[in-house]
Amino acid sequence: MASQSGTLYGIGVGPGDPDLITVKAVKILRQVSTVFAAGSTKNGYSLARDIVKEYVGETQIEKMSFPMTRDKKTLTEAWEGNARRALEVVEAGTDAAFVTLGDPLTYSTFSYLLRTVKRLAPHIRIVTVPGITSYQAAAAMSNMPIAEGEESVHLISGAKGGATLRKAIDSSENIVMLKTYKHFDDIYQTLEDLGLLDHCVLFSRLGLDGESVVQDLRSLKSKKMPYLSLLIVKRNGLVRAALGARAANLPARRVAPQSVYAENPRC
Ligand SMILES: C[S@@+](CC[C@H](N)C(=O)[O-])C[C@H]1O[C@@H](n2cnc3c(N)ncnc32)[C@H](O)[C@@H]1O
Repeated sequence: MASQSGTLYGIGVGPGDPDLITVKAVKILRQVSTVFAAGSTKNGYSLARDIVKEYVGETQIEKMSFPMTRDKKTLTEAWEGNARRALEVVEAGTDAAFVTLGDPLTYSTFSYLLRTVKRLAPHIRIVTVPGITSYQAAAAMSNMPIAEGEESVHLISGAKGGATLRKAIDSSENIVMLKTYKHFDDIYQTLEDLGLLDHCVLFSRLGLDGESVVQDLRSLKSKKMPYLSLLIVKRNGLVRAALGARAANLPARRVAPQSVYAENPRC
């Protein structure tokens, strides 16, 4: 019965710095009986768990694994398994929270959990708590507006390389590309082909060890990117011009520890 069931919260915990979590998220994390954190099936690591551990008190954080595969059957089984585990908690009448990096409805594992729980148990109350996205943190740390006046912004994924950028660039002054790590070579080549190498900044591991901001994209040619890397492209305004005098205040480029290249925290 709906009235006896608990609530499932989908909580965005921000991009890495534990201070970039909302007050609402912290209030909920202090109340729920169970916290689930997204992680990869490949390792025991969950960045979302690390971010919230200081806010949950005695509550155990249970890792929920999401496989890195395109195999539909494996994915569906994993989503259903995770949804059933969350349902065990909320159908027993207690509240649960699923924590995920950045915003829970922006390229996030929470959307799979949400969809599956809705299908399996439509009566369950689900509340989503928005989080600060990675690209908002990137814009803020560099004091660089994402869009101004009548400009538009295109949010794209680089998971399949630069092709999406080629399509988006004619329709938007500003492009934000997440998931740049796997096919960075292709993305780099696309930026070069389109004459955009001087129009972008690459941000990695914002708010985390090994954080870096790179304005000289040419220095990244043939380099591997950490999993947590994103690109902001400004088609019309040179980024250096947009950053202006503040560019000098950007943190110096720091090389991320080797481990972060292979790591995939799943979010
Ligand atoms: C699965 S998406 C998660 C997006 C997240 N839900 C958000 O709202 O930003 C993972 C991608 O987000 C970006 N990302 C997330 N956290 C980041 C961080 N701390 N620094 C740089 N990029 C980050 C990277 O592009 C990474 O490949």
